[in-house]
Amino acid sequence: MDRIEIDWNAAWQKAREGFSQGSDSSFWDKRAPAFARHVKETDYEKRFLDLMQPAPSWSVLDFGCGAGTLAIPLARRVASVTAVDFSRVMLDLLRQSCREEGITNVTPLHGSWDDDWESLGIGSHDAVIASRSLVALDLREAITKLDRAARRSVHISSLVGDGPQDRRIYEAVGRTLVSGPDYIYLYNLLYQMGIRATINFITHREWKVYGNLDEALEGNCWMLKDVTREELGLLRRYLAATLQAHGSGWRMPEPRVVRWALISWEKDTE
Ligand SMILES: C[S@@+](CC[C@H](N)C(=O)[O-])C[C@H]1O[C@@H](n2cnc3c(N)ncnc32)[C@H](O)[C@@H]1O
Repeated sequence: MDRIEIDWNAAWQKAREGFSQGSDSSFWDKRAPAFARHVKETDYEKRFLDLMQPAPSWSVLDFGCGAGTLAIPLARRVASVTAVDFSRVMLDLLRQSCREEGITNVTPLHGSWDDDWESLGIGSHDAVIASRSLVALDLREAITKLDRAARRSVHISSLVGDGPQDRRIYEAVGRTLVSGPDYIYLYNLLYQMGIRATINFITHREWKVYGNLDEALEGNCWMLKDVTREELGLLRRYLAATLQAHGSGWRMPEPRVVRWALISWEKDTE
């Protein structure tokens, strides 16, 4: 039987059609403060670092660093971190955390997957990570850039299924959630590129606590691209009827199980 050859980069691009949300920096600029607050509610970064096992002498590149979910804890464990993101608000929040926590070995850089990394001065690093940030349209090129920048290892975390999206929010406004391409495209493309990677899954129960209804609305409406005033009304009513008191805040009656695939490979140094 003939082998079926799938072009996984083309398949990724096709599957991403219609998933433009999050591909411009203004989306992340707007989301940054709430994202930075809620990201601290899980042990995702601890699980990522336990699997990565960074050594104290390493320099690490964190691409799509956000407000420093990994860059900040990494900075305490390694020699230096170069943290790149295309959202200036995320980078400002990262700088603020570094100042507040007395961290001096993080270099924030403004840049994108599509930029020329040489001109950005990204350089090479012992380890390279892209945590929940590999949304480039040209996946092959993004992998090549990450691989080229790494001297020892690369670690990418990617969506599994619905990822951080919550079906309940879609249903509340009468929409159906159609998830974008997940980690399996990435893993197959790596195979095609001759990169033998390992996969670990990071699973956590997400149970966000909101201070009030407005915060809950803001913390969920990012999922709804081009949300209308009517949908916002529906979502507000749904949340008001569904959220339950928890401590001094509010949360959903059930947590949501979120899975990430952590895909890693060692550079061939022989
Ligand atoms: C889900 S957040 C992840 C942040 C952090 N790495 C984490 O795991 O919490 C995705 C990040 O990727 C960044 N990002 C998305 N597209 C990007 C692009 N084309 N170039 C650079 N950064 C990008 C966003 O600005 C955002 O900070």
